[in-house]
Amino acid sequence: MDGAIGVFDSGIGGLTVLKEIMNILPKEDTIYLGDTARVPYGIKSADTVIRYSLENARFLLSKNIKLLVVACNTASAVALPALRERCSLPIIGVMEPGARKAIRSTRQKRVGVIGTERTVNSKAYLTSIKGIDPGIEVISQACPLFVPLVEEGWTDNDIASLTAKRYLQTLKDANIDTLILGCTHYPLLKGVIREVLGDEVILVDSAEETAMEILMVLKADNSLRDGDEKAVHRFYATDAPERLAKGGIRFLQGMDLNDVQQVSIT
Ligand code: DGL
Repeated sequence: MDGAIGVFDSGIGGLTVLKEIMNILPKEDTIYLGDTARVPYGIKSADTVIRYSLENARFLLSKNIKLLVVACNTASAVALPALRERCSLPIIGVMEPGARKAIRSTRQKRVGVIGTERTVNSKAYLTSIKGIDPGIEVISQACPLFVPLVEEGWTDNDIASLTAKRYLQTLKDANIDTLILGCTHYPLLKGVIREVLGDEVILVDSAEETAMEILMVLKADNSLRDGDEKAVHRFYATDAPERLAKGGIRFLQGMDLNDVQQVSIT
């Protein structure tokens, strides 16, 4: 397989990004690495997340990829500079596309950001948004219980609703008009998030924006794949490959990932 798009995440969540890549770039081969042995990243220190991210990138680079996607908000928030310093191929994180979309969407200049503790503490979204438009008010909220809820498949029950209400009330009171879903798992909670915030608040799904950015970068580099061969999708996990395979059913709308290979990357 020549020149695939390499994608990594801390685990299964990045499949939401892969799904959008497959939708928007159906001809492209992809290689997905889920670091299931070391998930979650969201509660770890920045140094640790950077180290893990560099190891993930090294593995994917050994597979002949043409572009690297950091399909994890936590890794994007803290590891992009280190990755870009060490790797010469184009690297796209999920944070910058989401931030840019939010800036385009907000009318009242009031943007909410939700993510893991590490993502929120890094202030990466805040810095990125303020760097482009200092006039935008950014209100951030860590939602650590959202990831386990999604992993458990509890995305539309009363517990998910109550948790969303508890986390999002401050953002609602702050009258945000745009909310960045700053974590791979959160697109699966759009329903309960909408229940709390109402339909007027624009939900920015980083996954969609990231896939659009990949399309633009590959187009500009003249490296979009052409021809009629069916795209090949390969999957690797650093532990418990069956978890990633199971994740495919929910995160990739029923796609059967029966061939997930376990790898050691350290
Ligand atoms: N993939 C992570 C993110 O988008 C969520 C899961 C984790 O904490 O590793 O931030």
